[in-house]
Amino acid sequence: MGSILLTGGAGYIGSHTAVELLRRAYHIIILDNFSNSMRSVIDRVCRTAALSETDAKSRVSLVEADLLDKAALAEAFASSPGVDVVIHFAGLKAVGESVEKPWAYYHNNLVGTLNLLGAMNAAGVSRLVFSSSATVYRADNPVPYYEGYALGSTNPYGWTKFMIEQIIRDICAANEGLSAVLLRYFNPIGAHPDGLIGEDPKGIPNNLLPYVAKVAAGELDEIRIFGDDYDTPDGTGVRDYIHVMDLAEGHASAMEYLQDRKGCCAFNLGTGRGTSVRELIRAFETACGKRLPSKVVGRRAGDLPVVYANVDLAAKVLGFTASRGIEEMCDDAWRWQQYRAAMPGNTEDQEDNSTPS
Ligand code: NAD
Ligand code: UFG
Repeated sequence: MGSILLTGGAGYIGSHTAVELLRRAYHIIILDNFSNSMRSVIDRVCRTAALSETDAKSRVSLVEADLLDKAALAEAFASSPGVDVVIHFAGLKAVGESVEKPWAYYHNNLVGTLNLLGAMNAAGVSRLVFSSSATVYRADNPVPYYEGYALGSTNPYGWTKFMIEQIIRDICAANEGLSAVLLRYFNPIGAHPDGLIGEDPKGIPNNLLPYVAKVAAGELDEIRIFGDDYDTPDGTGVRDYIHVMDLAEGHASAMEYLQDRKGCCAFNLGTGRGTSVRELIRAFETACGKRLPSKVVGRRAGDLPVVYANVDLAAKVLGFTASRGIEEMCDDAWRWQQYRAAMPGNTEDQEDNSTPS
């Protein structure tokens, strides 16, 4: 097989998937504009994958480019012959920010994807794995979420995923030389167990796990629990958290499945199990060895009480089942949080990476 191009490969999920692909002996090309990631991640990916300097040079390439720049994309494919598959992670991903800056989200995510599909077509690259999200399921579906459920969204970020899925399905159906897998992630958390790579949100995190990690590290004062009056066992919201290394393995399985398949297929990537906010906090307290201050505040607008996946299709068709539990997710996230706090070059993310409104 040729090489695998990872758009957004320097980001949270892309960097972990890069490590898993290197472990499976693939050659990879990371294409990123570093709008939400650090350049130093490439070196940390190579170290995590235990590559020698020679191996790192021959098996990992970096292309610093923006998907919005068509010429740079064409050049990326021209200078990297032998790309066999593209795994498309690149995109803006914050739900709240997408409501404030819809144009930036539609522009970056939709135009970026259309440019990528055009460049792939021109370069004769016919296989694509796309980072979708559980947010594409309409909120009135009962849990667990099945791939066949009705789709929709409630925010611009979610609509970009919904629209990109549709664009990819249409191009595959028209038989224009594209085959694709759409991966609908539930709640990826955790980090590689070696602790050199992990999630690195800028500013105050929106998501629960990175927020809890920063409280544990003393960078934030207390956890805010968004509602404890839901109809759930302890009243707090329930989600399907999946370890990012399980997610990375899911990508490798999807990519290998795509080798001899045509068409377009969507798969949930989750564990099929729900964990409440309080359960997650307790697991993190065990991981970091201390009680964490928290207070219950009002419900967050737009939150659903319970979201978890039906994972039968990925198990049956891709042969993929997530194996890591909440304890491992929290242990690994805490190890990364400590490394991150002490990391040399920790100021690199102080660059102005804001998106235009
Ligand atoms: P991330 O922000 O860490 O990584 C995305 C990467 O894409 C970043 O390195 C960023 O610099 C790059 N990027 C963004 N726009 C670009 C552009 N125009 N050109 C080139 N590079 C660009 O995010 P992540 O958590 O790793 O998520 C990866 C993908 O998975 C995203 O598409 C996201 O929407 C999707 N997803 C993430 C989650 C989650 O909870 N993390 C859940 C569901 C879906
Ligand atoms: N929560 C808190 N306090 C916080 C943050 C979150 O109590 O500070 C709660 C939420 O109310 C929810 C749970 O923790 O019950 C998880 O919230 P996250 O923000 O971590 O995750 P979401 O499920 O809301 O959203 C995530 C991604 C979205 C994606 C969605 C798909 O962030 O991008 O999963 O299901 F669209």
